[in-house]
Amino acid sequence: LPYEFELSSGTPPNFRLLIAGEVKQNPNKFTIDFMKGEDIALHINPRFKGESHQVIVCNTKINGEWGPEERNAPCFPFVAGKRFEIYVLCEQHQFKMAVNGNHMIEYRHRIKDLNEITKVRLHGDIKLFYLQPF
Ligand code: GAL
Repeated sequence: LPYEFELSSGTPPNFRLLIAGEVKQNPNKFTIDFMKGEDIALHINPRFKGESHQVIVCNTKINGEWGPEERNAPCFPFVAGKRFEIYVLCEQHQFKMAVNGNHMIEYRHRIKDLNEITKVRLHGDIKLFYLQPF
């Protein structure tokens, strides 16, 4: 970690990505960042500890500045030591994310140049088994 993957044509509408992994023991957090250059179009940040524990924080970083956080997931589906499957779908106006088959998050695009979101980066307290656009 971190793992970085190139997305050759970015994340245009109908782009789909499957990520399979396992949460490490005694986790603090992990992160999935969809990047446009150094900007983060979509930061997905499950947090296990601290004041805001057991929450999935989403945000966008432009020119080094975070925007307003979104914390709209209806539950916290990640468990220490357990496997997970995250499915990200890009639509025209939003990203959608499901975990273990359950819809979790919708995130309206703040960076709209979808073809320029050409990198996905993972880091934090997980083991990655599989990452595949399809
Ligand atoms: C910050 C944190 C960043 C990022 C951001 C999202 O507090 O340090 O890593 O998660 O929140 O809004």
